[in-house]
Amino acid sequence: MIIEKIDKSRFTPEIFNIQSFGTAFADHMLVCSYKDGKWGEPIIKPYGKLEFTPAMSVAHYGQGIFEGMKAYKGSEGDVFLFRPEKNFERMNKSAVRLDMPEIPEEIFMEGLKALVDLDRQWVPDIYGMSLYLRPVMFATEEAITARSANEYLFVILTAVAPNYYNKPLSVKVADRYSRAANGGVGYAKAAGNYAGSFYPTHIAREEGYDQVIWTDDATHTLIEEAGTMNVMVRIGDKLLTAPTSERILNGVTRDSMIELAKSSGIDIEVRKITVEEVYNAHKSGELKEVFGVGTAVVVNNYVAVGYGDERLELPDLPLEESYGKSLKKKLVDLQMGISEDPFGWRI
Ligand code: COI
Repeated sequence: MIIEKIDKSRFTPEIFNIQSFGTAFADHMLVCSYKDGKWGEPIIKPYGKLEFTPAMSVAHYGQGIFEGMKAYKGSEGDVFLFRPEKNFERMNKSAVRLDMPEIPEEIFMEGLKALVDLDRQWVPDIYGMSLYLRPVMFATEEAITARSANEYLFVILTAVAPNYYNKPLSVKVADRYSRAANGGVGYAKAAGNYAGSFYPTHIAREEGYDQVIWTDDATHTLIEEAGTMNVMVRIGDKLLTAPTSERILNGVTRDSMIELAKSSGIDIEVRKITVEEVYNAHKSGELKEVFGVGTAVVVNNYVAVGYGDERLELPDLPLEESYGKSLKKKLVDLQMGISEDPFGWRI
């Protein structure tokens, strides 16, 4: 790996006051190109612009995938990654589905560690904040032929991460648009999945909601994901989340929340959730919480769920009574090295 350090760091402690997610990039980035059937040597260099041709394949046919993960700083100044092997595995699953080359483990893992180590002062030592890590791969071949490209770039960017949303969200149940379909790319972290979600989200915003709860494409009767997150529903004292499938992203936060719920004695069930049971649970007063879980957001307890013309308001439970809020605290405490890590998730 080649390392070209920045002449003068751009870091100032004020950067940690940033309010918007994904705009304050750290000093360095990793780039590694794929050409002639093989990956080149990864280079860590100062973060900055790259040069591309408008004929590059990703701009036309969307062969682009990414990951989202975070680095945290403990009270001793030690820096942790959280379950990075999960993101590595998923990145390559996405690569296979989009017919892109898989990334060798040492480029992904060693590159990530070297980058975070070099920019460790950019990892906030503030509770709930982190350095967001964004591995991304896209087709760079200069060709507008509609086929898999022969050239790609793998890049890892990092950005200071405050709260993704600074308020609890309201979400609208999708009854027209879909995020994914069987046989499609819903389980991959493909750039196009996000592009396709923006218009339905725009419409939901016009109706007074922040995000969409995605339902199955065939019947719109099953609750699947929410916005860019997996979704969990609490009916009575039971916590529910949909099983992963071809349509649903296998979220690392989702998986961690399931394990934390189990170890906290919460009755959690991974099974299909119908829109109807959520609606009925609200009518009978049993719908206690609905929350989104994801790396960027961590956990967001929703204030309302929109269903047709109805807005189902949700109670604002205190931390000690809320599954979402209490599990979020357990997760962040573990990620930041405040609590024990019985699962071996911190590295
Ligand atoms: C993440 O939670 O890390 C994601 O990838 C969602 C992203 C669109 C912010």
